[in-house]
Amino acid sequence: MSRRRKYAVRLDGRILLDNLHVRPERKQSGIGRELLNHAFGWAAERHPGKAVCLEVLRDNSAAAAFYRRLGGQITKEFVERFPAGFDLPVVEYTWDADTVRERRAKMAR
Ligand SMILES: CC(C)(COP(=O)(O)OP(=O)(O)OC[C@H]1O[C@@H](n2cnc3c(N)ncnc32)[C@H](O)[C@@H]1OP(=O)(O)O)[C@@H](O)C(=O)NCCC(=O)NCCS
Repeated sequence: MSRRRKYAVRLDGRILLDNLHVRPERKQSGIGRELLNHAFGWAAERHPGKAVCLEVLRDNSAAAAFYRRLGGQITKEFVERFPAGFDLPVVEYTWDADTVRERRAKMAR
């Protein structure tokens, strides 16, 4: 499992999750769900009442399917300019504070 994870609190108060990666040979075995739930648990404990969001390239259909499966709602679509000088469409997914809290409660059982 790759454990590269990054969190940040955005200016709008939501928790931004970044860099969710599972080793290719370990995909589809529940690790991504575990990592996301771990992030929800951290967010609910450290920043109760805050939503969690993340951004994914629109063409990353595998990650998008995963986020939809785990209840993420599309809250924004935009085109991002990358430092190398190219533009790519990006989709933002959000889990509201109630969902984040419920997932934390499930983990604690
Ligand atoms: C996206 C990623 C983190 C998902 O992790 P994972 O460990 O493979 O996902 P899980 O095994 O925990 O899957 C959880 C659920 O999502 C579903 N799912 C996962 N990948 C899916 C896919 N490509 N298509 C459809 N459903 C998918 C699983 O079937 C499972 O559903 P279930 O509730 O019916 O069992 C992983 O594929 C990955 O590291 N991808 C490459 C890096 C990347 O793109 N990261 C996102 C950057 S924003």
